[in-house]
Amino acid sequence: MKTQFALSLRIIHWVMAVLVLAMLFIGAGMVSTVTEWHLTLFSWHKPIGILILVLVLVRIAVRLSTGAPELPADLKPPVKLFAKLSHLALYASMLAMPLIGWGMLSAAGTPVSLGAGLVLPPILPVSAEWFAFLRPLHRLLAYAFFLLILGHLTAGLYHGFVRRDGVLKSISLKR
Ligand code: HEM
Ligand code: HEM
Repeated sequence: MKTQFALSLRIIHWVMAVLVLAMLFIGAGMVSTVTEWHLTLFSWHKPIGILILVLVLVRIAVRLSTGAPELPADLKPPVKLFAKLSHLALYASMLAMPLIGWGMLSAAGTPVSLGAGLVLPPILPVSAEWFAFLRPLHRLLAYAFFLLILGHLTAGLYHGFVRRDGVLKSISLKR
């Protein structure tokens, strides 16, 4: 029986964990400073966010083709369901956050420049209504995402160090 995720998924999980956490802090730092750091953080926020979008698309394709190990048999069905729904919510957040960011800037009429002369096309028409909807949504989802990650981290550590049931090992980089 499969006990670990595919190696490529395990690597992508930890690379994305670092990137997503960095993005939450870069975003929060960016909106709370008016010094030259604001522009520096913003110039990191856009390319890293788009990189997350690309990585999550690759990750979903690999996950669909390689599957996942079974959760421990002694976990009650509602707990398993909750775990699966929370993972779906994590995937949805990793997809939605960059798309909302990109959409928000498109609606504001600001080109999304990624540096090195790379500029993304707009995904929405210039619209004050869209901007007014997406800007608070990006913020709200960011903080919901942060809470979700804290819960996910707590559950992962609980499995690894209290239940010791192999779930943490399933995503570990070690075989
Ligand atoms: C996983 C990806 C992303 C995460 C976790 C994230 C997170 C955040 C956070 C935490 C903030 C601060 C929210 C606040 O307190 O107002 C923020 C702001 C912002 N983000 Fe993102 N972001 C992501 C992707 C993107 C992308 C790809 C873009 C654009 C291409 C973008 C554009 C913006 C903009 C323009 C703001 C400032 C909004 C404002 O002034 O209120 N974000 N982001
Ligand atoms: C930004 C941070 C993180 C994100 C976005 C994230 C996302 C995810 C997602 C979407 C899955 C589901 C994999 C699948 O079934 O396809 C997963 C699995 C997992 N993650 Fe994370 N993760 C993060 C950080 C962490 C951390 C810090 C830990 C450490 C405790 C952790 C431990 C685990 C474990 C143990 C699994 C396997 C669950 C299972 O076997 O079903 N993750 N993660």
